[in-house]
Amino acid sequence: MDGNGRWAKSRGLPRIEGHRRGVETVRRTIEAANDFGIEYLTLYAFSVENWKRPEEEVGALMNLLDHFLRKETKTLIKNRVRLRTIGRTEDLPPKVRRELDRTVAATAEFTEHTLVLALNYGSRTEVLDAARAYAAGVAEGRIDPDDLSWESFARHLYTADLPDPDLVIRTSGETRVSNFLLLQAAYAEFVFLPIYWPDFGREEFAEALHEFNRRERRFGRTGDQLVAVASGSGTS
Ligand code: FPP
Repeated sequence: MDGNGRWAKSRGLPRIEGHRRGVETVRRTIEAANDFGIEYLTLYAFSVENWKRPEEEVGALMNLLDHFLRKETKTLIKNRVRLRTIGRTEDLPPKVRRELDRTVAATAEFTEHTLVLALNYGSRTEVLDAARAYAAGVAEGRIDPDDLSWESFARHLYTADLPDPDLVIRTSGETRVSNFLLLQAAYAEFVFLPIYWPDFGREEFAEALHEFNRRERRFGRTGDQLVAVASGSGTS
């Protein structure tokens, strides 16, 4: 969700106004994802690196998150959207943690749509947390390191019970991944849009999905193999 600051700056507004507009886009995007039949929507709302921003901006982002949760929980319930988080949420301010716990509990039963908020998230810290949990399992004799596989390791990631992303969209014109789902996005398609997050709307979302549908996903195979599998003449 990149470009809130630049959206505001280009209008002579304070950065926080860009984040405020960014929250409106969040609302719109959740609604559109539901309408488009997307089962899992993950929003990179606050990275482990974002603590380096001015204290005032970090505080404002936490307040926006707090307000969003207070205000939107009933809409999530109405639309049967389950809320999940990934990241070191234990380091977020207590009031935000409280609201997160409340919303996660209130929406836990829903299965049709899942909204994942990446909060105090970073792929590298995720790997460290997973490695620590894995090592503890080995030390306690619950895990046999000879059985190490991607599947057995991935069970220790924050995303253990979530599917890998098919499509990653980044707004604002930057073409970086910035520590977001680095391992899970190994085979994801990427769409980089030259617009700021507050300008991301239903139309832009639909266009990114069309672009995704135009891509040929080969997962290491050749294009001819895919054609053979699709026509039923391939073995696997
Ligand atoms: C990136 O734009 C945006 C963020 C770091 C914060 C995103 C957070 C929100 C939209 C609000 C809280 C989230 C929810 C889910 C309610 P930037 O500030 O880095 O933009 P810039 O690169 O133009 O400065």
